[in-house]
This record gives sequence, C-alpha cells and structure tokens, in this order.
Amino acid sequence: MPHPLSVNITLPNGLKYEQPTGLFINGEFVKSKTGKTFPVIDPSTEEVITEVYEGFAEDVDAAVDAAETAFNTTTWATEDPAVRGKYLYKLAELIEKNKELIASIETLDNGKAIQLSRGDIQLVADYIRSSAGWCDKVFGKLIETGSSHFTYSRREPLGVCGQIIPWNFPALMMAWKIAPALATGNTVVLKTAETTPLSALYIAKLTQEAGFPKGVLNVISGFGPTAGSAITLHPKIKKIAFTGSTATGRVIMKNAAESNLKKVTLELGGKSPNIVFNDADVSTAVANISFGIFYNSGEVCCAGSRVYVQEGIYDKVLEAFKKDALAVKVGNPFDEEVFQGAQTSQMQVDKILDYVKLGQQEGAKLITGGERVEGKGYFIKPTIFSDVEEDMRIVKEEIFGPVVTVTKFKTVDEVIEMANNSEYGLAAGLHTTDVNKAVDVSNRLKAGTVWVNTYNAFHPMVPFGGYNQSGIGKEMGAEALDNYTQVKAVRIKIESKKE
Ligand code: NAI
Ligand code: MG
Repeated sequence: MPHPLSVNITLPNGLKYEQPTGLFINGEFVKSKTGKTFPVIDPSTEEVITEVYEGFAEDVDAAVDAAETAFNTTTWATEDPAVRGKYLYKLAELIEKNKELIASIETLDNGKAIQLSRGDIQLVADYIRSSAGWCDKVFGKLIETGSSHFTYSRREPLGVCGQIIPWNFPALMMAWKIAPALATGNTVVLKTAETTPLSALYIAKLTQEAGFPKGVLNVISGFGPTAGSAITLHPKIKKIAFTGSTATGRVIMKNAAESNLKKVTLELGGKSPNIVFNDADVSTAVANISFGIFYNSGEVCCAGSRVYVQEGIYDKVLEAFKKDALAVKVGNPFDEEVFQGAQTSQMQVDKILDYVKLGQQEGAKLITGGERVEGKGYFIKPTIFSDVEEDMRIVKEEIFGPVVTVTKFKTVDEVIEMANNSEYGLAAGLHTTDVNKAVDVSNRLKAGTVWVNTYNAFHPMVPFGGYNQSGIGKEMGAEALDNYTQVKAVRIKIESKKE
C-alpha cells in the first residue's frame, strides 16, 4: 500500500487537520518518483507523527521544470507586479487566519513551545505581507548620461531559485526565503529540513487556496546529500539561498561554483556575544541575556551564547541569571506555561551534551543545568558555564542549544576585543544606559546586527545577515530584494535631427 498523500492528524491540543505528505510540485501534492517515504518525529515524545514522501534528484528535476515553465511561459514575472502582491497578501491573510493551527503543527514537529510558535507564525504573516507591499515598489533608475543617449536600468528577476532551509524556524525560514523571491517575480524550489517538513507543506496547501499559479512555488521534503545536493548542482537553477550550518554552507558554495555559478546567499552559524556593562539596568539585562540564549531552546543562529559581564556587577548578574535559568519552565511544548520545549532531534541532544562534557573537561565551572530532563523527549536543562577561557571550544564553537558561557571583563576595549575574537559575526547584544557607549560599542562590534538593551528583536523591514563566516547577503528589509533581482542597463542612442 503506498502512503496516502495526506493524513488526518489530531494535535495534542485537540485541533484536527489534514496534513499533506506529498512533494508539492507544479501546484499539486504528488508521490516521489521512487515512492520512498521517511518518518517525521515529534521531538517531545520521540514518536512518529507520520511519513512524508522523500524527494531525490529526479523529483528536484520535475520541480525545477515546473518552476522554469512557470517563469518562462506564464505572466508571473512579466505582468503588473501588483498582481503578485495580491497573491502574497492573500497568503499572509490565510496564514494569519490559520495561525493557531500552523503554530501547533510547528510545535508538534519542531518541539518548540507553543507560545513561541505563535510568535513565529505571526512573523511569517507579517513578513509575507511586508513583501507583498514591495512587489510594485522595486524599480530601476533613469540614468543621466548626456543628451546623446537615453539610459535606464531595470531590475529583473533571476529565474528559478533554489532555497534550502533548516529546522529551527521551519515556517519562518520558509517565509524569509520565498517571500522576497516571489515578490520580485522569480519562481522557487524550496527544500525543507528532514526533521521538520510539516508546516511548509501546510503553507504550500494555503498557496493553492490563495490561487497561486502552478509551478511558482515547489516544496520538496528530503535530505541534504540527495535532494539538497541536487538543488545546489542543478544547471537550471540560477540562485541558491541557504540557511544552516557553516560547514554545509561551504559545500553549497562549492557546488554552486562547480555547476553553473549560481548566485549564492548564505545565512550561517554564530557565536554571538551579549555584553552587560556596569551601568546597565540589571533586571533588563538579565532578562535579555536569558532570552538571548534560552529562547527557542537555544536553537537560534543568533543566540547570545557568549555573555560578557563587567566586573562591577558580575556577581550580581551571574546570581540573577542562574535564578532565571532555574525558573525557565522546560517540558511539554503544548503547555501554555512552558518557555523551553524540546530540542529538535536526538542528534542535537547528543551534540549539546557532548559540549557540556567538553566544557567540564576544559575546566569551565558548571553553574546550573548540563543534563537531559529524565523521561521521553529531547529536553535539556538551561545550562550556564562560568570561569571560561577565550580559547575553550565551548566559547568558540556553535553549540546550538540552551548552553551559555559567562565571562568577566574590566574595560570597554577588552570586551570589544573578546567579542570580536570569533570566526562568526552574526549578531551581538549590549546593555548600557549610556548612549555614547551604546553607539560607540555598536560601531566597533563586527556583527551584522547589534541589539542594544534588547535581544532577538526582529522586524520585516530590518536586514539580517552575518559578517565573517556567518554568511553572505542579507535577508529581510529592502536588502533582501537585491538578492533576487539582477540589474539590466539599457542605452538608446538619440539622434538629434536638425530639420
Ligand atoms: P545543516 O546545515 O546540515 O542542515 C540545514 C539544511 O541543509 C537542511 O535542510 C539539510 O537537509 C540541508 N543540507 C545538509 N547537507 C546538505 C548538502 N550537502 N547539500 C545541500 N543541502 C544540505 O545542519 P544540521 O546538520 O541540521 O545541523 C548541524 C548544526 O548546524 C547544528 O547543530 C547547528 O550548529 C548548525 N545549524 C545552524 C543553523 C542556523 O540557523 N545558523 C540552522 C541549523 C543548523
Ligand atoms: Mg520533527
């Protein structure tokens, strides 16, 4: 018996819905060519939710053909761009209408707390709506080159875009990828992460309801070395956008170079510093360093995983931070009170606990946490290390879990040097009540985003993306549109005829 193309699911909170399980190609859910499926796991129970169809290279080919046909033979890229805006507005509206359901799907599949999933899905709707507004506001220039030529530039879409996303914010990463690509007239083949395929398939179903033309968006469930690799190597894909680990980012860039020199944008890992100065408001700072690392179970590319506290308030901050960590409610992500749900996979649990062991071997002091919560599910206690040295691996490497290091510092120059001593540069946080210090330190930090007296504060109009090995290119804001357009210059010779 082949697996059905949709299954009825009753969520732990009682909501019932129909979950598509096929690959979404040319506007339809279809079986994969091999007929193979793979299990989707609920990380808070470790049980199988359903099977979904698994895409391989030949399915990617079919999706690329559909996307190319939609780009070349329909009016998607050529008609009044406001029409694309109408589709995206409609999709944003449907997502908002189904917010509770999609948030619940996300919590089931990813393990994150329901209160956080609701925030994610609101951001998904907000970003798609913001992108809808851009559709008819992306244009070229009239360039003054003297009276002998009439010169202008156009911003044209690239064609079929390949997009590969991770599992920590499945729906939100989908939105960050597809919205600017579609808004600018491209068509898309998106591959979800193998641990979290469900919400993207549901959103794909909503694009059917919103009336999207066939082939404009295609969604493939599958694994990196097979489906992912096929996307990065595909000769008809013009651009690749990726979010995930720096190691995989490197492979993606290499594949893009060795195939057809696809344009590449990457949003990669981080080891972001979060600094607290003596003059900070202590309760705000502690709330933000706690939110900075324990939000989304620490599975955040820009997690504030290196905390630096100035010596005058170090003891006070560390004590309050420990109290905060102990008060974080960890457990059943459908419980309204829970802030920290399950890690997304067994692989992540193993990786995080290995780092905890390593930290202890390296001589760091474990202040709290450091262990798995007993019983079923991938739950890890909020973990703080102090007494760390800058060259310890737990200070240098991305752990991607609720594990943070705390370091004492004396001077502004010293902390800036430590903060910038990283191969990454995604984000940074700082806490001070001195506006001069806020601006001066922000200027001197090597990071794509600096948050002052706040953390993890996203907005659709604010560009996000890394310095150093944290990535290439920006997502969101006007900058995201640059990744999905190419500029054509047109010069027309003008003959000034004397009659
Ligand atoms: P990953 O970077 O390998 O996976 C992310 C996505 O890339 C998934 O969709 C995966 O299927 C795809 N992928 C993997 N190998 C590929 C390949 N050769 N070609 C094309 N696509 C490929 O990350 P993974 O293994 O899930 O997690 C490992 C570590 O990566 C985490 O512990 C964390 O440190 C980091 N990570 C960082 C993220 C971020 O947002 N910066 C997100 C996810 C993981
Ligand atoms: Mg899952």
